[in-house]
Amino acid sequence: MCGIIGYCGPRAAREVLLEGLKRLEYRGYDSAGICVGANRALTVIKRTGKIADLREIVPTGLAGNWGIGHTRWATHGEVTDVNAHPHTNCAGDIALVHNGIIENFAALKEKLVHDGHVFRSETDSEVIAHLVSDFYEGDLEAAVKETLQLLKGTYGLICVHASEPDRLVGARNGSPLVLGVGGDEMFLASDVMAILSHTKQVVYLEDGEVVRVQRDSYHASDLRDRRIDKKVETISWELDTIEKQGHPHYMEKEIFEQPDSVLRAMQGRIDHENLTAHLGGLNMTESELLGIERVKIIAAGTSFHAGLVGSYLMESIARIPCGAELASELRYRNPVVERNSLYFAVSQSGETIDTLSAMRELKRKGAKVLGVCNVVGSTIARESGAGVYIHSGPEIAVASTKAFTSQLTVFYLFTLLLARMHNMSFEGGKEFVDGLAALPDLIRGGFEEQNHIRALAEKYSRYRDFLFLGRGLNYPVALEGALKLKEISYIHAEGYSAAEIKHGPIALINEETPSIFLVPNDRLREKVISNMKEVKARKGKVIALCASGDEEVRDTADDVITVPRAGEIWYPFLMVVPLQLFAYYTALKLGRNVDQPRNLAKSVTVE
Ligand code: G6P
Repeated sequence: MCGIIGYCGPRAAREVLLEGLKRLEYRGYDSAGICVGANRALTVIKRTGKIADLREIVPTGLAGNWGIGHTRWATHGEVTDVNAHPHTNCAGDIALVHNGIIENFAALKEKLVHDGHVFRSETDSEVIAHLVSDFYEGDLEAAVKETLQLLKGTYGLICVHASEPDRLVGARNGSPLVLGVGGDEMFLASDVMAILSHTKQVVYLEDGEVVRVQRDSYHASDLRDRRIDKKVETISWELDTIEKQGHPHYMEKEIFEQPDSVLRAMQGRIDHENLTAHLGGLNMTESELLGIERVKIIAAGTSFHAGLVGSYLMESIARIPCGAELASELRYRNPVVERNSLYFAVSQSGETIDTLSAMRELKRKGAKVLGVCNVVGSTIARESGAGVYIHSGPEIAVASTKAFTSQLTVFYLFTLLLARMHNMSFEGGKEFVDGLAALPDLIRGGFEEQNHIRALAEKYSRYRDFLFLGRGLNYPVALEGALKLKEISYIHAEGYSAAEIKHGPIALINEETPSIFLVPNDRLREKVISNMKEVKARKGKVIALCASGDEEVRDTADDVITVPRAGEIWYPFLMVVPLQLFAYYTALKLGRNVDQPRNLAKSVTVE
């Protein structure tokens, strides 16, 4: 997500900061800025767009040997110059860069405004600069520590004061911060990528730690001013691998991030007292929510598959008629917009032209359309005016993985919300909420099959055609598994309902066409096992994904991948991860360009 950098030393801060920000670009961002200190004054320059755009407006002769910089990936507040970091206090003598989310910022801001502070941005981060200025009595570190006691949420931050030249104060809680130790210079950054070209000597800060940094020294302590001796570590990674945090590809990194990204999608959205979901971005009153008579989801690609799962779930659990449709199709078929219908436009990037155009057409017809996007401030998010962000963090690999499970999480939350208003009991709500809470660990548990999946992917990588078969909630997951395989390995793969094979695809079955069956222990399990047997009877190879301990499936299939056992509605999360890994390892084995497969783009803005 966002990236931060700080510098103090003998060199021109301008160059070090801009270069550091450039190296943080891979994280994804929408705006950037720097603050450079000189002659007891701070100069802040920030704007939306790329680092190259920022560089254009930073005077080449900008003097100053210390400062801070930031790449912003918007969460609170739109993508605007003003919302970009650094943020300053009213007097402009304190500047701050911040990663993370301050959950109690609204209450803090209200009080600060009441006390006369003037806010310029819509960000949660700006409150920190104003609070520090309230506490400042000639000691920046002390003022930062006082401020941190008031904050609820996560932060990795760096703060500077015009009257304390050559000094940075950094703090960490939930968002990473690392100190780079140079010969006569020091760096702070959100990840080592930003500073690796200058030093490989680093100190990793832990949550609850504050560090005061000068050119030739640093001092780490906790919030109670107790000194902490930190170990200097030497980085052995090369620039290239760190970009991907040790993963060879963004896709692998993103697959393994899913326990965290799913958690982020639900964080702050579960009402534990009333056992329902709280989705503030919907901007709908209770009576408007109660008035919804049908829901329609429009999307493309992986987002469409997530929408299909969402529609199945919503209809069966919340008892609201619901369907999902390809945005590209809906757009040109002059759809009927019925009264009391609610539409979701689902898009990771928020820029997919098919989804955007369908949304616009629906709005022209008077429909209420909500966005389900990852990229904050993207066109669909802006034009829908309301909706739910999935907060999965930048997804860089072209083949979407973590966005899918985060989109699912949002639909599960929305289902909970509607179901609790209609037919779900308090106890039912408890069971659902417990199920959501268990998800991250269940997904993590599925990673235990990683090596086995890799071996299977290598074993089957010589085949040129695959069928992916599932039923119910796992039918769209089968579609997604087939999509992943074709996207990155270029192997022909078709996703089907297992029930449908007898209507055509079974004609394809022979020794050369393996089938991947999704067989969770749900109400359709027996039927899917029968389908597996039909395939086996025709000499088709069967790889089955089933709940751990399912011996009957193991006995029927040629190969088995097990997923953790769970309640039946949770399997789409658990089934899709092995399919993502299967596609990934197959593509690796075939030497494909995993992150940037041929002909595909991350964000498709042309029809
Ligand atoms: C492209 C990407 C897919 C993605 C689809 C929809 O085709 O390659 O990974 O699923 O667009 O993108 P969206 O950003 O709207 O979710």
